[in-house]
Amino acid sequence: MEMDDDFEICHCYEVTRGELIKAIRDKELKTLEEVMDETEVGTMCGGCIPDVEDILAEIWG
Ligand code: FES
Repeated sequence: MEMDDDFEICHCYEVTRGELIKAIRDKELKTLEEVMDETEVGTMCGGCIPDVEDILAEIWG
């Protein structure tokens, strides 16, 4: 499914897809653990983790 940049990936921390992609690129976050440490995304309910992993795979291949 295609998601646009305004799609809210993490509801707990109100982080959009666009914001997350920017953080991942700017800080060169390669793993889920790094994303969680740097952005807190995924650290509350964990419901967004599959989407975070998809985005990591999209960016870094
Ligand atoms: S939706 Fe991201 S931690 Fe809950």
